[in-house]
Amino acid sequence: MPSLRRPRAVIATVAALATTAVGVALLLSGCTEAPPVSTIGAIPFDKPLAVPPLALSTVSADGTRVFDLTANEGESRFLPGAATPTAGYNGAYLGPTLRASSGEKVEVHVHNKLTVTTTLHWHGMHLPAVADGGPHQPIAPGAERDPAWTIDQPAATLWYHPHPHGETAGQVARGLAGMFILDDPAERALPLPRNYGVDDIPVIVQDVAFDAQNRLVQRDGGFVGALGDQLLVDGTLHPFLDVTTDVVRLRLLNASPARVYNFAFSDNRAFAMIASDGGLLDASVPLDHIQLSPGERAEILVTMAPGEKVVLQSHKADLGTPGAAAGFAGSSGGSDQFDVLQLRASATLAHVGEVPQRLVPVPRLDPAAATHERQFSMNGTEINGHDMDMSRIDVVVALGDTEIWDIRNDMALPHSFHVHDEQFQLLDIAGAPPPPELSGWKDTIYLRPNTSYRLVLKFTDYADAKHPYMYHCHLLRHEDDGMMGQFLVVEPGTKIPTTTTMEDDNHDHH
Ligand code: C2O
Ligand code: CU
Ligand code: CU
Repeated sequence: MPSLRRPRAVIATVAALATTAVGVALLLSGCTEAPPVSTIGAIPFDKPLAVPPLALSTVSADGTRVFDLTANEGESRFLPGAATPTAGYNGAYLGPTLRASSGEKVEVHVHNKLTVTTTLHWHGMHLPAVADGGPHQPIAPGAERDPAWTIDQPAATLWYHPHPHGETAGQVARGLAGMFILDDPAERALPLPRNYGVDDIPVIVQDVAFDAQNRLVQRDGGFVGALGDQLLVDGTLHPFLDVTTDVVRLRLLNASPARVYNFAFSDNRAFAMIASDGGLLDASVPLDHIQLSPGERAEILVTMAPGEKVVLQSHKADLGTPGAAAGFAGSSGGSDQFDVLQLRASATLAHVGEVPQRLVPVPRLDPAAATHERQFSMNGTEINGHDMDMSRIDVVVALGDTEIWDIRNDMALPHSFHVHDEQFQLLDIAGAPPPPELSGWKDTIYLRPNTSYRLVLKFTDYADAKHPYMYHCHLLRHEDDGMMGQFLVVEPGTKIPTTTTMEDDNHDHH
């Protein structure tokens, strides 16, 4: 049991109180709330956005694309004065962007040069459970693990991050995260900007707080976990981006532990959302803001005029916290606002593309084909009344089945829900159809308080009776506190006891 975990009794009390309005009022009276943060207009934008490099790869004799990632500690210069101790892959902070095409075999040599055990999880990836990099695939200090799989899903903006049991928040917050871009022919056929680092830009957003010695600290944001008062974008404090094309594609990734961003522009201009977590939408969606909770992604196209400057911002978020709990939204960060990234268009802009109306047809999963409808109640930091138990299988799914998962946030406070392995589609939110921005492939959704979400999922390709996948709240403190469950995908007819010993898959080597 890790020593840094919060006493469970405190969390349980918060959970119990927050289910009632009276409870929330009680909570509020006992809680000293930080005033809302706003950095709007206060950011100097004096550093060029440090776009992560594309990861180098080699192609082996059998056609496998091979990457190397080494997790290591380092130092980053974010602020004047002392350097900040950080961690990253192949560098001091964050990691390179991996890129591969649908149909390609990939293998990643993951080396752990940290002083602590880590894992490396491929968030959003459809892959065998042994390669998933969840808590059952630890990599000890000095060890290596070489997950391999075939890319078998549409073009998308995915990401990678550690997933050690109970220790994820701290590792991600030190800088251990990176982007994984998937390409496919349907995406390539569209007139979209795709020149990486020029008109196709990863925007990895993390909120951080520094102490007087410039060290990263976890600033307590109350129930949701750590909330920072400054933003790093691709590991850059106060960044600007020189735009040289008339349309720029931003791949927004919320890689923060707890904060929900409500991305919008300083002039409230419209932009086009073209992709959600798992890939392109049917059609581009005109929006003037897009809200992303931790782990979620959105690709957007922004049209720029020659010579103009505009700031990507995060406005107050609509966390949906009702009644008395609304006051508590201050401590969930819902009232905070940020300048995120300044876009500076040059005097002449190259014409790179259109904003296409139609994108790719997204096949709809058929809820009528569902063999099971399962309930997941999110309350406190438990799911269906249970903490994560590495040796308990919560759900067994038969390979090939379509299922409906009914996720209910049974509290007056925020949660989220993420599923490994398969992208899902939202059927309804509190009985109503989802808005267009939530109608494509998703692997992570924000859960508004006291609201139910029905998802449809189809489990394909990989059956394994020994290695589970995870589902969990992606507020990292909740995840670390046990708000996670395990599911197996098995060949139809396989009998699995619900309590079974899932041993760590300790096949790493030194
Ligand atoms: Cu991004 Cu199981 O997580
Ligand atoms: Cu994941
Ligand atoms: Cu949660």
